[in-house]
Amino acid sequence: MATHSFGSDNHSGVHPAVLAALAAANEGHAPAYGADAVTARAIGLVRDHLGGGAEVAFVFNGTGANLVGLALALRPWQHVVCTATAHIAVDECGGPERLLGTKLVELRTPDGKLTPDLVRASTSGVGDEHRTQPGAVSITQSTELGTVYTPAEIRALAGTAHELGMVLHLDGARLANGAASLGVPLAAVTTDCGVDVLSFGGTKNGLLGAEAVVVLRSELAPGLAYARKQLGQLGSKGRFLAAQFAALLEGDLWLQNAGNANAMARRLEAGVRALPGADVAWPVQANAVFVRLPAEMARAAETFGAYPPDEVTGLVRLMCSWDTAEADVDALLAALAAAREPASLRAAGGPTGSALQEV
Ligand SMILES: Cc1ncc(COP(=O)(O)O)c(C=O)c1O
Repeated sequence: MATHSFGSDNHSGVHPAVLAALAAANEGHAPAYGADAVTARAIGLVRDHLGGGAEVAFVFNGTGANLVGLALALRPWQHVVCTATAHIAVDECGGPERLLGTKLVELRTPDGKLTPDLVRASTSGVGDEHRTQPGAVSITQSTELGTVYTPAEIRALAGTAHELGMVLHLDGARLANGAASLGVPLAAVTTDCGVDVLSFGGTKNGLLGAEAVVVLRSELAPGLAYARKQLGQLGSKGRFLAAQFAALLEGDLWLQNAGNANAMARRLEAGVRALPGADVAWPVQANAVFVRLPAEMARAAETFGAYPPDEVTGLVRLMCSWDTAEADVDALLAALAAAREPASLRAAGGPTGSALQEV
């Protein structure tokens, strides 16, 4: 197995500056549960990026961040509209359904992105006491398919959600990758677009394990502390979560890390496009490359940590990370090229179309 993995952006380690910040936070004693100076500083830094009105709660993981954010958005009879590929729908073990008691209305999309028309079309039965009522629209930036919403697209979704009396929730496990891809500040795809509550991801961007729930709509903020505690996401030694965010946000580490991951994905995309038999499924926008590979190439990718091809789509997902180096990308490309044999190409039926696939 190659040491650098393309299986997930969670396979990378922790950025040295983050480890140094953790060591610094480890000096002496400090009040627990976020009542410490490091937490106050980190909240200030999040506000510097997302606006002075942001309410911030640091949490341990992305599933927990989504639960806390959505808990604030929903009444017990309301549902969440999301894509069928959303992490909340596919990869959270039914957490929102069980722990929030909500229903997810999962919409099929070609590119992992909701649109105002899709959201509008999903809202039937409004005012009918027999039906769940629309409570929140949840979008992911960058998406589970590696695509990126533009600020205009998010603004339009916020407008639609608000018109329908819904909250716009954003799963920003890869928020930094989305903003870096667009070349805009973090606020340009959140605060400035009318997002009401978001999960601000840190782990995939070089942290040890820290995310933040950020509430941008003041009416939702009063429940934040209670929801975090009730959902098991309040850390007693909170300074160690906060110190990581401070390291990410006090300079431009968030941008450097996300920018590198995105740049390496583009390098990988270019290399894969040059490999006969490999077919990039759609253009790379953030740090994920989705590709259809002949069987031998897919097996070669697995020796670089990639998961086997998706059971339904046949696509292999290759993820780049904050620490992916050009040499890592080139080593993977060389292995894919070496794995290619005419017989394997015949077995795989050759390249398929390069249009955006529905998954
Ligand atoms: C889109 C998205 N949301 C949220 C998460 C957070 O997951 P976790 O609970 O593993 O931190 C992930 C991680 O894979 C993700 O890809």
